[in-house]
Amino acid sequence: MKTKLKETLAWKKLEKHFNDIENIHLRELFFLDKERAKKFTIRDEGIYFDFSKHRITTETIDLLISLARERGLEEKMAAMFSGKRINTTENRAVLHVALRTPIEEEIIIDGHNIVTDVHEVLDKMDWFSSKVRNGEWKGFTEKPIKNIVNIGIGGSDLGPVMAYEALKYYSNRDLEFRFVSNVDGDDFTEAVKTFNPEETLFIVSSKTFTTLETMTNAHTARKWLLAALKDEKAVARHFVAVSTNEKAVEAFGIDTHNMFGFWDWVGGRYSMDSAIGLSTMIAIGAEQFKDMLSGFHSMDEHFRNTPLNKNIPVIMGLLSVWYGDFFNAQTQAILPYSRYLHRFPAYLQQLTMESNGKHVTIEGNSVDYQTSAIYWGEPGTNGQHSFYQLIHQGTELIPCDFFGFKTSLNPLPPHQDYLMANVIAQGEALAFGKTEKELVQEGVSAELIPHKTFEGNRPSSTFLMEKLTPQMLGKLIAMYEHSVFVQGVIWGINSFDQMGVELGKVLAKNIIPELQNKETALNHDSSTNALIEFYRK
Ligand code: F6P
Repeated sequence: MKTKLKETLAWKKLEKHFNDIENIHLRELFFLDKERAKKFTIRDEGIYFDFSKHRITTETIDLLISLARERGLEEKMAAMFSGKRINTTENRAVLHVALRTPIEEEIIIDGHNIVTDVHEVLDKMDWFSSKVRNGEWKGFTEKPIKNIVNIGIGGSDLGPVMAYEALKYYSNRDLEFRFVSNVDGDDFTEAVKTFNPEETLFIVSSKTFTTLETMTNAHTARKWLLAALKDEKAVARHFVAVSTNEKAVEAFGIDTHNMFGFWDWVGGRYSMDSAIGLSTMIAIGAEQFKDMLSGFHSMDEHFRNTPLNKNIPVIMGLLSVWYGDFFNAQTQAILPYSRYLHRFPAYLQQLTMESNGKHVTIEGNSVDYQTSAIYWGEPGTNGQHSFYQLIHQGTELIPCDFFGFKTSLNPLPPHQDYLMANVIAQGEALAFGKTEKELVQEGVSAELIPHKTFEGNRPSSTFLMEKLTPQMLGKLIAMYEHSVFVQGVIWGINSFDQMGVELGKVLAKNIIPELQNKETALNHDSSTNALIEFYRK
């Protein structure tokens, strides 16, 4: 059965168009059109977005934009920004954009301006983070806090850790930050190994405050603290919570005065600019955190107001659809040429794959097309000495997103020139390759020619920015958030639930007592039973 997506006029035209251009080489496209780079570059929001090294023509972009229109992209964007309950399976609005909306603006939900709520929490975060940063927030024995441990997982960890690493240059170096996410006890043990409990603050970050990993680590943290401080009253000075679940925070024993709230309309993977960013604010200070929010907001405005053919997240989202559904590309590489962005690919994995790794449409019908690509990556030059071989000469087509910053935060000649030369060279090598003719001219022996040939025609986007700043980080994240939204609209899926993570959690809960009580009869399949038996022995 064909789904509605494949019935659209634009899709049918794209199928035909794909047949026409599938075998055209980027060498030819660049040769035929000297203006190509200019035509397929968008310069906006301080971002130089070059998408000319993609296997597209003007017609491709026109057809993809027609597809977006036929799928109701503009109406769906308006629905999201106005707070319609577009997360239909959970009956929730999707309003992460409200988290960075300036106080002067309004977003009214059920007769209430939620922007005021957002700013109240931001003010409280500002007050608290300033106290920690200037040493006024004292531990139970009146020592100032030196160590901050964020306990959380998924969206309550990946955003904070990525932002901390990305903005380390701007962070307060008198404070030590650690991030505990894994239920593996090694994670907690190593995180606090060198810490003095008297100087340590735990931020328990969990939207639901029920997540097994986070609650287990939080209880262990409390035991660790009390083993040293020996007084329940110490908890109030050493634990704060970030959550939407006030009752559970209270039940854990954290004073709700020390709780920073957010709302059900913020998805976990869209929450790093909510109170979940408390560790980020402590690290870089309220002013720079607000700069980051202004970057997010600026990209929201770009997404909302820019014509689709000049709209960075729209073009990015459409290109992903083009490669996944027409070229059959299975994966997408994220390759930042910045050491500070080393957790950016991991962060984007949750954002993209938890959002769009779905096989049914919003109406519950199975899709007959590919949805989210597998996102992966590492900082660029390191990758060049490992997996780039496959990107250049392997059998998979892997669209790449390259990132570079003109100005280094730590100028150390000649590092920056070398770094930037590499990011630029990679896109060039992927697109144009190395032909047999060139190799012959260079005198390469006949038997080595097949090995040394680079077919090229491998697509990439290059994003160049002036400098990595809090504001620019906000822009880059919002850019991907919206590109994920665009993809979800085209595929007709709900990008805002995550039912696929539930089954494993339920089964693990069943298995826990079976591991702890060796007498329990086992009723699984033969493989699962055997694994449990192996552990029990
Ligand atoms: O298991 C997936 C998930 O629900 C993510 O969507 C979420 O970011 C993460 O778990 C953590 O959830 P919480 O913040 O409620 O602990």
